[in-house]
Amino acid sequence: MNVGVLYSRIRRDEKLLLSELRDRGHEVTKIDVRKERFGIHEPPAAFDGVDIVVDRCLATSRSRYVTRFVDAYDIPVVNEPETAAICADKARNSLALAEADVPTPATEITFTKEAALESIESFGYPCVLKPVIGSWGRLMAKIDSKDAAEAILEHKETLGHYEHKVFYIQEFVEKPGRDIRVVATDGEPVAAMARTSDHWLTNAARGAKTEAIDVSDEMADLVKRASDAVGGGLLGIDLMETGDSYTVHEVNHTVEFKALNEVSDVDVPAAVVDWLETRARNVEVTA
Ligand SMILES: Nc1ncnc2c1ncn2[C@@H]1O[C@H](COP(=O)(O)OP(=O)(O)O)[C@@H](O)[C@H]1O
Ligand SMILES: [Mg+2]
Repeated sequence: MNVGVLYSRIRRDEKLLLSELRDRGHEVTKIDVRKERFGIHEPPAAFDGVDIVVDRCLATSRSRYVTRFVDAYDIPVVNEPETAAICADKARNSLALAEADVPTPATEITFTKEAALESIESFGYPCVLKPVIGSWGRLMAKIDSKDAAEAILEHKETLGHYEHKVFYIQEFVEKPGRDIRVVATDGEPVAAMARTSDHWLTNAARGAKTEAIDVSDEMADLVKRASDAVGGGLLGIDLMETGDSYTVHEVNHTVEFKALNEVSDVDVPAAVVDWLETRARNVEVTA
């Protein structure tokens, strides 16, 4: 197959994917989205002969638009535009999980700082304020007091971009110093790791200690339901342990897997390519 890879920067994750594809004799078409012009009628020539497209754009805006366009060109795309749109937006992400009855932290959104303060006061302290768009734990706040809440809300309202005018407020989950990342393909767990940190943010990108963990049946069931809730695909599901169970705080759509690949016995890029192959073949069969 010929796999189109949409990117703007080739990171370790993309390198792993590209070398796995090439090792298996697949053709790879690297498509730098910064250089292309995406017409509403015709695909850019770069897409000629491509059987399946994998979106690896870092920027959410690019990812969201480009998957829509590729889908309109009738080329299979991973992940699908609706999945990207849901996952790229924490508010939609939480709503989708709640609608599917997947346990997820209590969350509210508000559009003014006055309503946000009411929400924060009703959650109590600490609670969490997140940008609706973003990753790697950026611009997330754990709010410990009303003074802190007022200050951060004023900063956001005065200095924030458009997206920061939506206040996403969440209960603070007393997790055991770690959270869990599961990479899954259409809800089937590939591998999982725990991310441990002294800091409340436990993103691998922020230096959390990572270790492979087994996926229990309960985790696998939640992963499947969380994946279905956003339309499936190649996803990173984030869970926190709540003592006797789990809560899913988000599903990521352009999931990084280098950290997981390092700690896990599973060959993650190989599993991803196995899945891409079935996707492309299914598409050929039904076409
Ligand atoms: N409600 C919460 N309570 C406690 N910790 C949280 C909560 N939400 C997120 N975290 C911590 O912050 C990290 C980043 O949050 P997340 O919602 O996954 O955003 P990002 O998209 O930036 O990764 C999580 O991995 C987790 O460690
Ligand atoms: Mg996360």
